[in-house]
Amino acid sequence: MKTLILTQRDVASILTMEAAVPAVERAFAAHGRGQAIMPAKVYLPLEDFGGDFRAMPAYFEGSAGVKWVNSHPGNPAKHGLPAVRGVFILSDPATAAPLAVMDATLLTAYRTGAAGAVASRALGKKGPKTLGLIGSGVQARVLLSAHRVVFQGLEVLCADKQADVAQRFAQQLGGRAVSLEEASACDIICTATPSRAPIVMREWVRPGTHINAMGADGPGKQELDPRILVDAMVVIDDWHQAVESGEVNVPLHTGAYAKGKIHATLGEVIAGLRPGRKGDEITVFDSTGLAIQDVALARVVFDAAKTRGIGQAVELVAGA
Ligand SMILES: NC(=O)c1ccc[n+]([C@@H]2O[C@H](COP(=O)([O-])OP(=O)(O)OC[C@H]3O[C@@H](n4cnc5c(N)ncnc54)[C@H](O)[C@@H]3O)[C@@H](O)[C@H]2O)c1
Repeated sequence: MKTLILTQRDVASILTMEAAVPAVERAFAAHGRGQAIMPAKVYLPLEDFGGDFRAMPAYFEGSAGVKWVNSHPGNPAKHGLPAVRGVFILSDPATAAPLAVMDATLLTAYRTGAAGAVASRALGKKGPKTLGLIGSGVQARVLLSAHRVVFQGLEVLCADKQADVAQRFAQQLGGRAVSLEEASACDIICTATPSRAPIVMREWVRPGTHINAMGADGPGKQELDPRILVDAMVVIDDWHQAVESGEVNVPLHTGAYAKGKIHATLGEVIAGLRPGRKGDEITVFDSTGLAIQDVALARVVFDAAKTRGIGQAVELVAGA
């Protein structure tokens, strides 16, 4: 059996947000029920190169795989390249045959956007009218497209420390570039920056708001005023990852927030094992990004590629 090589162009021709959202939702539910295998992601810090690599293995619903991905915030300015790039290997769990090797840059973006929209549907109030995007980069784009799959007629307000970036984002994707404070007064807020200090203040956030805190995915990263966490129902994606590297990591270290206040994992809420929103409280989804999200999408891409005859099959591993 040959291994299917899928380039970014191949993946782009297959992957849609309409397919990504339900696949990611199923992955979270399996995680909540304890039906997935997902060791904690391994970080390879490379301070001399201004970034890090992560190895993310997982098994879920008959599919096993690993993503090798990075975070180099200086890539766009220094090299004109995206901050996040990756490769995914999908394997047959029974024979260990490498089924596919594919670009995981788009996979990462789509599964991140999909996770935000899945969390907004599970934890946000019904019928949101406004979406605030804090940070107008790659992840913000996919967060917007995923929210448009899940919700109709959202007014989009975007903000960025680079005003021209927010302006361009608004013009291209349909929205209004505003201040951080104005974007924080929306029904749903998505933060997607590499910030290492709070950029959304407690006073700016209204009761009933749902926040997807997506940017903090490494130790020392932080986007929210810790007083938001103290007042909110906080739902994490995974205990180990969130405590080590999620939005809660810094306030847990400083003592501004207590681990015992974390309400549940998103998977537990989606699987109906823990209650979600009760009324007008602020809800926060602390996302670090789970390997099962990637496996779920890699499977969708692989199955579609085989059906449609996309990709190049090669003898990569002897006897594969
Ligand atoms: N949770 C997850 O699953 C997940 C997945 C992928 C990436 N991420 C993280 O999301 C973050 C954003 O990634 P990206 O690919 O969109 O990066 P990006 O470089 O494409 O965009 C980030 C944007 O944030 C803006 N920004 C930076 N600091 C800011 C600040 N203090 N205030 C306002 N805006 C600010 C930048 O100007 C830029 O436009 C990174 O920290 C990345 O590691 C998380």
